[in-house]
Amino acid sequence: MRIQLTVNGEPREADGAWPGESLLYVLRERLGLPGSKNACEQGECGSCSVLLDGTLVCACLVLAAQADGHEVTTVEGLADGEDLHAVQQAFVDAGAVQCGFCTPGLVVATAELLRRNASPSDDEVREALSGNLCRCTGYQKIFDAVRLAAGRA
Ligand code: FES
Ligand code: FES
Repeated sequence: MRIQLTVNGEPREADGAWPGESLLYVLRERLGLPGSKNACEQGECGSCSVLLDGTLVCACLVLAAQADGHEVTTVEGLADGEDLHAVQQAFVDAGAVQCGFCTPGLVVATAELLRRNASPSDDEVREALSGNLCRCTGYQKIFDAVRLAAGRA
């Protein structure tokens, strides 16, 4: 089937998609957007987090057919050309990136949190990012990055 989406503000089409394949597969393998990472494919790690019509979802759990006709924002859509999104810059400045595999999902989840809550409490940050696993940082630097981004906003 042909999947038609708006991805990062641009109309995109994916030909030959199987209705049962995931939005994550369409983004990475058919549309050439590898920013959303594929770690578990089971909705457990959050590395594939994207916005679907503005709602944070795990792209590995959304069927391509479900996403047909909808609007998707991936980590690639957050930066403004060469200028990093404020959350991306905060992750760099806080040293919250080690292997980086979790980073795109955490950046998307953090941007979504700060868009709806510019000054989240510690518990709200923990809850918002509870679906995003990181095996490297111990989470403190990630927490620092969220605080940094919120403080600069
Ligand atoms: S790859 Fe989607 S949640 Fe892990
Ligand atoms: S930086 Fe390696 S998994 Fe988070």
